[in-house]
Amino acid sequence: MIQKRPDEIVLIKKACEITRNALVFAKGLIKPGVSTFDIDKSIEKFIIDSGGSPACLGYEGFPAATCISVNEMVVHGIPSPDIILQEGDIVSIDIVVAYKGYHGDAARTYAVGEIDAEKEKLMKVTKECFFKGIENLRVGDRIGKLSNAIQTHAESNGFSVVRELCGHGIGRRMHEAPSVLNFGKPTDGPVITENAVLAIEPMINAGKKEIGMLSDGWGIVTRDRRPSAHYENTVLFTRSGLEILTLELDDEHYAR
Ligand code: MF3
Ligand code: CO
Repeated sequence: MIQKRPDEIVLIKKACEITRNALVFAKGLIKPGVSTFDIDKSIEKFIIDSGGSPACLGYEGFPAATCISVNEMVVHGIPSPDIILQEGDIVSIDIVVAYKGYHGDAARTYAVGEIDAEKEKLMKVTKECFFKGIENLRVGDRIGKLSNAIQTHAESNGFSVVRELCGHGIGRRMHEAPSVLNFGKPTDGPVITENAVLAIEPMINAGKKEIGMLSDGWGIVTRDRRPSAHYENTVLFTRSGLEILTLELDDEHYAR
């Protein structure tokens, strides 16, 4: 696990601040009739105007600034003028910002107007999975403690955990060691070290855990076509605890 120096942490925090602000900005764009292409373009401008750069653009050939995934799409949706948000959709927006060579990564799932009770519960439980995962988590614990808490909360609510995708270390690169799985035993995985920075990102399906990939080579969808939600933050682990670097300042969990 990579331990960040104080000067690196300053830059990661700035990247995370732009990421968080971009997600708050994105939330205001969500309404019926808007295309995911237009949302992506607006977020891209916001990130650049904020002094950052959209790290997904060009990453392994990804063609847009952000990943936008509607309903049964789990993650990595390519924004498109043909994908128009409709009342009742849920839409996941995943943003990675680079700032002076360091990264921040976060995702939220938002509702488009009124949504049904199942989608409402799915969004709520997915966010809860993140917070159950980090509850009492500290330097010296194994990643498996987090993974197991996420899986337990999702499955006890009748939902399933996507297996093929996971969270990750983050810093100079978007994806660094270790893998941060959303399932497993408490004794699994490496021990969390001081000044580690991890992107923790439960991806939870309303139905079965199985996924497939679209022919565009990016979009990940549930096999049963039931909805999926995503909630991600970049988290810094310190000697005294942890800091959620991409959390909205008005979130009920925000306390610093
Ligand atoms: N934000 C994603 C993650 O959490 C990665 C996006 S893939 C990209 O790992 F190609 F769009 F960058
Ligand atoms: Co991530």
